[in-house]
Amino acid sequence: MADIFAKKSLDKLMHEADEGEGGGLKRTLTATNLTMLGIGAIIGAGIFVLTGTAAANAAGPAIVISFIIAGLGCLFAGLCYAEFASMIPIAGSAYTYGYATLGEFIAWIIGWDLILEYLFGAATVAVGWSGNLVSILEKAGVHVPAAISQAPIAYDGAHFTTTGAIINLPAVLLIGAMTVLLVVGIQESARFNNIIVFVKVAIVLLVIAFGFKYVNAANWSPFIPPVESLPGGGSRYGWEGIVRGAAVVFFSYIGFDAVSTAAQEAKNPQRDMPVGMLLSLGICTLLYVLMSLVLTGLTSYKNLNVPDPVLVALQAAGPSLGWLYYFTGLGAIAGLASVVLVMLMGQPRIFFAMSRDGLLPPIFGKVHPKFQTPYITTIFTGVVCAIVAGILPVGLLGELVSIGTLLAFVIVCGGIIALRRRDPNLHRPFRTPWVPFVPGMGILICGYMMFNLPWDTWLRLIIWMAIGVVIYFLYGRHNSKLNRERAEEAAGK
Ligand code: ALA
Repeated sequence: MADIFAKKSLDKLMHEADEGEGGGLKRTLTATNLTMLGIGAIIGAGIFVLTGTAAANAAGPAIVISFIIAGLGCLFAGLCYAEFASMIPIAGSAYTYGYATLGEFIAWIIGWDLILEYLFGAATVAVGWSGNLVSILEKAGVHVPAAISQAPIAYDGAHFTTTGAIINLPAVLLIGAMTVLLVVGIQESARFNNIIVFVKVAIVLLVIAFGFKYVNAANWSPFIPPVESLPGGGSRYGWEGIVRGAAVVFFSYIGFDAVSTAAQEAKNPQRDMPVGMLLSLGICTLLYVLMSLVLTGLTSYKNLNVPDPVLVALQAAGPSLGWLYYFTGLGAIAGLASVVLVMLMGQPRIFFAMSRDGLLPPIFGKVHPKFQTPYITTIFTGVVCAIVAGILPVGLLGELVSIGTLLAFVIVCGGIIALRRRDPNLHRPFRTPWVPFVPGMGILICGYMMFNLPWDTWLRLIIWMAIGVVIYFLYGRHNSKLNRERAEEAAGK
């Protein structure tokens, strides 16, 4: 069994990183690009949709505290990611960090787990994007038939049923367009992302700035509504509601770590990776706290259990904010599109790294000779994501994306503690402060949010990971480059 826990030295990992077929990836991204990619991935469905439902169904106005708790969990995990990303600045993110610290098997497990975050995350947000687009078009008098804007398969909590629809075409088209962009170039993708991020951040700032003027402080009282039992079992509000709210809104922070998958394309990754991740996270945390204060201040949290809480909150302020309605629709459309883009950027780079290590077929390691992008994995990711978003009931996946990401965060925090013990003298361009306190708190807060997710989400996670273990033993273990090299060495002796 010892070989499945074999680790790769940092030297070996870095040396092998640029050996991809067709040459290495192109190093063009600056600190600004990386920060914008982080913001591109972070601000999306979470703030535009989940804030309202989480306030109404879990925490009340104290959703602001939920955002702070989830943000702290991410900050602690982000500080750990920053150390790894500066130390091992190559594609693969947490998968690669796992290979260096915890061994091949755990690395595979993390890599498999990250599919939940990136590929399924992109599919979930693409479906949200499609829903937003259809409802905006509807308001503008353009009707998009359900047959081409919904998945043909639905899940009612117990059974799969057919809906009569054919495909969620807008979601598939968005994924297709983002995939083409990502194949054509990382710099082109980053430029496009910059524009979208500019638009969505501007809109969030407008909502905050103009919304604050119309806040009615009475809506914040009681800030933590008393515990209420729900007819179907369970409860809401109170401290428990705040923590459950944190687990729900955690989704809105997912994505800052996607920056680390592009480490091999950064001009100065040692310095810029920590900047990109931590700055994007910091900016978004501030925006989220302010935005949730404004939304719960404009109207009672009880009114926010809707798919478009920002719009509902603005409407409560009266006609004077009417001009902002159109912008919020645009903000959601732009926001969700860049989330899909960055998630679809992250996933292929994890597959790319896995292929480099022999855990996936070598074709996944191909780099396009002209565009210098991992084009085979990018196209593969796009096709699978389009199938998932176009046909399957992705409502099933939302919380699975969160639990999968939280698991990766917990393992990365654990990895920092493990590597500091094992190799205290390694060159660390960025050092996580106060180890083991910071990673320990990361594990505690992210672990606590995991435990606040429903049992059926856990079950799906366990099934997904079990499938991953089977694939590892059927394929990865036999084809792993590290194992083959070790076997050759042993035979040569
Ligand atoms: N953080 C991303 C969003 O909220 C996944 O859409």
